[in-house]
Order: sequence, then structure tokens, then C-alpha cells
Amino acid sequence: MDFLKPRYTPMNRRRRIYEGKAKVLYEGPEPGTLIQHFKDDATAFNAKKHEVIDGKGVLNNRISEFLFQHLNDIGVPTHFIRRLNMREQLIREVEIIPLEVVVRNVAAGSLATRLGLEEGTQLPRSIIEFYYKNDQLNDPMVSEEHITAFGWATPQEIDDIMALAIRVNDFLSGLFLGVGIRLVDFKMETGRLWEGDLMRIVVADEISPDSCRLWDIKSQDKLDKDRFRKDLGGLIEAYTEVARRLGILGENEKVQSGGPRLVQ
Ligand code: TMP
Repeated sequence: MDFLKPRYTPMNRRRRIYEGKAKVLYEGPEPGTLIQHFKDDATAFNAKKHEVIDGKGVLNNRISEFLFQHLNDIGVPTHFIRRLNMREQLIREVEIIPLEVVVRNVAAGSLATRLGLEEGTQLPRSIIEFYYKNDQLNDPMVSEEHITAFGWATPQEIDDIMALAIRVNDFLSGLFLGVGIRLVDFKMETGRLWEGDLMRIVVADEISPDSCRLWDIKSQDKLDKDRFRKDLGGLIEAYTEVARRLGILGENEKVQSGGPRLVQ
């Protein structure tokens, strides 16, 4: 029987390390590894708005797996090892740097509001912003001065993070453009990965339609979490469309929601 296979420990017997709004981290099978579990919870505006959307976690697990595996393949270091089942992936344990790194190509969201730009305006160049990861403070935007003064990251680490962010943006922009999608902006997180005495910064957390703005190039339809933030409906259909275009799901395939299933 599947669940008796050695690699698989039923979820309730694993130690829960951390629970966030959309994911849970469990202790992994070996030291230095964790299991990242994708929930169906959707939140916005710092969890003031919350809903459970059947199947979202399964889609984000698959889409994030696809993107992280490609990043690994082109030599952009990430925490991702492999997907375990419909909702879970094996990752390397990293020390999360408490910054949300946002890369923007097109004016939208909080940038459009803050600077009075019309949504959809192409930016003169890609812009990287940092936000301090702190729910109590509503993830305030911070500058490199704050980051170094408060010791969240060193100047060298900020350089590494920005270089990673640019590589991720270039890769994702091209990938999505090839399937008729405009990468408006996205958020990524980074962590310190220790290998003996050596430390390097890697991409962590997830990259999915929950953390990107993805617009269909022809119709301008939003294929991301703005469907939830703005009460547009059709979130699962939009995420499924992204997965289809990336070739993750077959033409008529649909995700099966529900609990974790073993991948053979
Ligand atoms: P913003 O325009 O609301 O600042 O969002 C910029 C990008 O970051 C957008 O792609 C959505 C993503 N994002 C998150 O992933 N998590 C968050 O908590 C926020 C505020 C934005």
C-alpha cells in the first residue's frame, strides 16, 4: 500500500514547524530538509479577507514546482528539491531573510496607487522593492538603509538578492511571454542556505499566481490572485489556465482537490 512506502510519513505524525496563511512547513525526512504543504486558503489585505478555495493549493504546488525546477535547471539556486505529492514538496531548510522582494515590470497594485500611475503602464525599467516581512506592521516597504541598519541582510547579501531577483524576473518574463502572459510583477523570498561553513542565498517560499501578477496578453484578463483580491471570481479557472499554458496540465485535465496523494 502506498502509505507504507518508506519515504512517506503520514502528515499527522510529522512535526509542524511553521504555519503561514497559505502553507504549512513540516519537519522533513532528513536533517536540513522540510516539507512545504500548500493549503487552499486564500488571504488578502493581511488576512482581513479570507476564503478557502478548493484546489488552489494543488495548483500552486504544481506551478511553483514547475517554476522552481526550471530555475534550478538554469542555475538559479532555490530551496526546491522535488514534489512529493499533490500538495507537498520537499525543500531545503533555509534561514528565511525577512524581506519580500517585489520585482515590477508594469505599474499595478500598490505602486500604481502610491505614485498615481495608470495600471498597465510599462515601467522605464524593472524596479526592485523590499518590504519587511512583519504581519503586525502590514509588511511595510523598506529601503536598503533600513535593511542594513537593522541587520536583516548585509550589503553583500542585498547585492546577491538583487542579482537573483533580476535573473528570476528575466527567466519568468520570457517563459510567460512565450505562453501569451505578461509578467506584471511578482514577489519572491530568499533564504540563507548553509553548506558546511559556506553560505549562499537561494530563492525560497513559492512562486505561483498567488505571488505574481499575470495578465493575458490579448485579453488583458487577470490570471492571478487579484481575481480574489478584487472579487472577480474564476480564480481556479485562471490558475488552471496558467498551468495548462505552461504544459503542466493536459488540455482536458483538471486538478483533483483533497488531501495529499503520493506521486509515483
Ligand atoms: P503590491 O502591488 O500589492 O505591492 O504587490 C506586488 C506583488 O507582490 C504582486 O505580484 C502581488 C505580490 N504580493 C504578495 O505575494 N504578497 C503580499 O503580501 C503582497 C502585498 C503582494
